[in-house]
Amino acid sequence: MQILAIANQKGGVGKTTTAVALAGLMADAGKRVLLVDLDPHGSMTSYFKYDPDELENSVYDLFMQSQISLNRVDNILMPTTDPQIDLMPATTALATLERKAVGQEGLGLQVAKALRLLKDRYDVVLIDSPPVLGVLMINALAACQHLLVPVQTEYLALKGLDRMLRTINMVNRARKRKLEFTLIPTFYDRSVASSVNCLRELHQRYPEQMASTVVPVDARFRVASSKGVTPSALDDSSAGVQAYSRILRVLGERSGS
Ligand SMILES: Nc1ncnc2c1ncn2[C@@H]1O[C@H](COP(=O)(O)OP(=O)(O)O)[C@@H](O)[C@H]1O
Ligand SMILES: [Mg+2]
Repeated sequence: MQILAIANQKGGVGKTTTAVALAGLMADAGKRVLLVDLDPHGSMTSYFKYDPDELENSVYDLFMQSQISLNRVDNILMPTTDPQIDLMPATTALATLERKAVGQEGLGLQVAKALRLLKDRYDVVLIDSPPVLGVLMINALAACQHLLVPVQTEYLALKGLDRMLRTINMVNRARKRKLEFTLIPTFYDRSVASSVNCLRELHQRYPEQMASTVVPVDARFRVASSKGVTPSALDDSSAGVQAYSRILRVLGERSGS
C-alpha cells in the first residue's frame, strides 16, 4: 500500500484538487484508493457531498481512542461517487483537536496506525492535509512515504513554500527514513508574468524535486467539484487532467510504486 500526503502551509493552492484528481486517475487505472481528509474545513468531505458539520463518524474518532480497532476504522469509511475510491471524512470537530492534543503523548501516529489496519484493502492512500502546522499535519507527514506539495505559481508562493520546507526538515529529524517530496506547480498561466517567473525560480531552487509538468488553470476542476465527481470522471481529456496524468506517471517511478 502506497501512502502519499498532500500538504502546503498555504490555503487555496490546489491541495484538495490534487488529491482528488490523482485519486480519480489511480481509480481509473484499477487501483483501490482511500482518500483521507485531515482538514477541519472538510473541503474534500464536502467535495463528495458529505456535510462536515453533520457527519457522525469521522477521522476525529481516531484521536479519541488510544487503541484503534479495525471495527472503529470501518465505521468511519464512506463510499464516494467512484466505486474504487473510499473516503475517511473530516468533521469540523477536528478543529478542536489542536487544543485538546496539547500535552498528550503519541497522538502523532494515530493516522499511521489506522492505515496499517487497512493495508490489504487499498493500493493507494492519499492524505489531504490542513494548511496549519499542528497535530493533523504531523499525522499526515508521519504516515506517508512520499509528500506532494502543490505550489501556486504566483508572486508570494515561494515564501509559503519556505515555511513548508522548514516543516519537512523538522519532521525529518524525527523520522528514520528521510521524507522525499515532489513540488507540483499549480494554477499555471503562461500568459501571466508572475506565473512564468515563479516557475523559473522553482526550477532553479528545487531542480530535483519538481514534478514533470505544471498544472494549468482549468475551470473544469471547479465543475467536477460541484458535481462531486473526480476530474477525470467529468472529462479525462481536459488540460488539467492531462497534466495530473503526466505527473502521476513520473511520480510512480520516483516514489517507487
Ligand atoms: N488548476 C486549477 N485551475 C483552476 N481552478 C483550480 C485549480 N486547482 C484548484 N482549483 C480550484 O481552486 C479552489 C481551491 O483549490 P483547492 O484544491 O481546494 O485548494 P486547497 O486544498 O489547497 O485549499 C477550488 O475551488 C478548486 O476547484
Ligand atoms: Mg483543501
